Amino acid sequence: MEVVGKKDLLPSRPEHVAIIMDGNGRWANRRSMSRMQGHEQGANAVREAIKGCREFGIPYLTLFAFSSENWARPTEEVNHLMGLFRFFFKKELKSLLEADVKVTFIGDINRLPKDVQKLAEELVQKTADKDKLHLTIALSYGGRAEIAEAAKRLAEKVKSGDVNAEDISEENFGDFLQTSDIPDPDMIIRTSGEKRISNFLLWQAAYAEFFFLDILWPDFTKQDLQIAVEEFATRNRRYGAISA
Ligand code: IPE
Ligand code: IPE
Ligand code: MG
Repeated sequence: MEVVGKKDLLPSRPEHVAIIMDGNGRWANRRSMSRMQGHEQGANAVREAIKGCREFGIPYLTLFAFSSENWARPTEEVNHLMGLFRFFFKKELKSLLEADVKVTFIGDINRLPKDVQKLAEELVQKTADKDKLHLTIALSYGGRAEIAEAAKRLAEKVKSGDVNAEDISEENFGDFLQTSDIPDPDMIIRTSGEKRISNFLLWQAAYAEFFFLDILWPDFTKQDLQIAVEEFATRNRRYGAISA
């Protein structure tokens, strides 16, 4: 497929791309490697996604790195993933700063090992004034948990009299989600061939365009992003109305 130039993408370029980075285990299995090696290779694809967003002028990128449900995996795998996050957060700080990337996190960060939490906080603080790409890393994240947590906080505000129940609307409910400072995703990409959302950005995905790629996450490159972005430009987003 012919890849379009950056300029040609401008009219209907997505503002926010979110990615379910799936297939590390299968990538490794096919090579008789351990699942851990698959996760390690996945880190290269993360760099590709960031590079692609910077090149194509996409200002928001959200990456699903570890779900609330992934805690149920064998301890060895969970520990290895925590080690990779530790390594990645330390090693990538410099290149993220150089690329003007601001990093924030969504998810139940309190469940992470203390030192990983600290490295994550450092990454957030040190990149806070960067403004070319806002990278959100979903870590220990689950969409239902996020919505339930928002409902709980709203209920407390109603109880204390700070919010009137009648004033809660779909326009302001999003302010109570962890994504309140970023726009909803225009595109959600999932690699590995699975066609499901797996508890990712449930509220925010209401009108996202979905892209299910048959490649496994460690094989993802910025060209795959570019092809998806190119297809995005051809889709007709109707939002329930009729075509113009
Ligand atoms: C995605 O790859 C990484 C995480 C969920 C942390 P998987 O580990 O789910 O890989 P598959 O789906 O088993 O191939
Ligand atoms: C979704 O992948 C979570 C991440 C990519 C971090 P999973 O591999 O955990 O999802 P399921 O189990 O196939 O639904
Ligand atoms: Mg998977």
